[in-house]
Amino acid sequence: MKTLNIRASTPYPIYIGQQLLTQALLADHIKTLQKRVVLIADNQVAQLLAPAVLAYFNTHSIDTELLTFPAGEQHKTRETKAALEDSLCAKHYGRDTCLIALGGGVTTDLVGFIAATYMRGIPVIYIPTTLLAMVDASIGGKTGINTSFGKNLIGSFTQPHAVFIDTHSLAGLSKREYINGLAEVIKHALIADAKQVTLLETQHDAILAREPALLAELILQNCRVKQRIVEQDEQERGIRQHLNYGHTIGHAIELIEAYRIGHGEAVAIGMLVEAYIAVRLGILAEHALTRLQKLMQLYELPLTTQAFANPALFIQTLTLDKKAKAKIPHFVLLKSLGEAYASKKDYTVAVSDNVLQEAIAWAAKHYTHKTISY
Ligand SMILES: NC(=O)c1ccc[n+]([C@@H]2O[C@H](COP(=O)([O-])OP(=O)(O)OC[C@H]3O[C@@H](n4cnc5c(N)ncnc54)[C@H](O)[C@@H]3O)[C@@H](O)[C@H]2O)c1
Repeated sequence: MKTLNIRASTPYPIYIGQQLLTQALLADHIKTLQKRVVLIADNQVAQLLAPAVLAYFNTHSIDTELLTFPAGEQHKTRETKAALEDSLCAKHYGRDTCLIALGGGVTTDLVGFIAATYMRGIPVIYIPTTLLAMVDASIGGKTGINTSFGKNLIGSFTQPHAVFIDTHSLAGLSKREYINGLAEVIKHALIADAKQVTLLETQHDAILAREPALLAELILQNCRVKQRIVEQDEQERGIRQHLNYGHTIGHAIELIEAYRIGHGEAVAIGMLVEAYIAVRLGILAEHALTRLQKLMQLYELPLTTQAFANPALFIQTLTLDKKAKAKIPHFVLLKSLGEAYASKKDYTVAVSDNVLQEAIAWAAKHYTHKTISY
């Protein structure tokens, strides 16, 4: 197991390795807390992965209760939070309780938020089981739920007590979910680690085959990127905005497609279009964009959307983006493949209407027709 120690307002370790359940580390960690343990998972993960975790706790004489909720982003809601909280209350779990979130980013966000408010705050341990949750949702302390007004509108900055990442748990993840996570892996490399970009280019076969040892190394390097950023800016007031690379265009695609397209798929197209904008503004070299297009194709990202069919609607949607200032969309741009651009004043760049029109026309030409299907 490799360890990353995250320096946050409340510091915590992230352990990354293989075969977590053959080692005493997790059990030892829980025993030091001296708390009652509640494991929370969505119903799919509860079926696939919870039995082994419960057997492990049993072997280590740790009493654990399992609570579940229906899988899916549509259940990351107040209602699910309330139902789980009511179950905890009905069973008289008090401040002597520790929650363990086993699952993807929906579970870590939801359980992290429950832990932030239940009994005014109890410890939570994350065992992320999707690639996205391993490299992204488990680090940085953001927790939350969706409402009918939008995603992640209610939540908190709450650090977990510890994070345990086991690359073996990725074996049963669907190809679509795995590739969704790879888009965020690629994003981290592109904004801050040129060596990782080369690793992604040269080792794509082994990465797509989910080779556990290589994945453990990639996840470690990738978590380090997010670690370096969130340690500098825990509450997203500055450099943390770089993590939104690809997301301004990506969110607009998701909104126009009414979330029929995966988040990673939308962000992948977003990264390409935002790279085009950087080229157009003279910030990124043209050959870097060609290299990025090849990288995305290596990872079998579908790179297809109908969202550019109506440019006026697309631009209007961009002006609603959270990062827009005075209705002018702002973008995180790349300086090179491995470094995001920052001016003396800002981490994002305002982009004029005519450059956006051009970028959307370019995107419509390149990413409207289906090239790869699952
Ligand atoms: N807090 C943050 O900083 C942060 C960052 C990025 C994303 N997020 C959040 O993460 C969420 C998306 O996370 P996600 O993509 O992991 O979605 P998810 O949690 O819904 O998991 C995706 C699907 O995979 C299944 N699954 C999980 N692990 C599995 C495994 N090992 N084998 C087989 N199936 C498995 C789940 O049951 C689910 O159906 C979003 O809500 C997003 O807002 C949060």
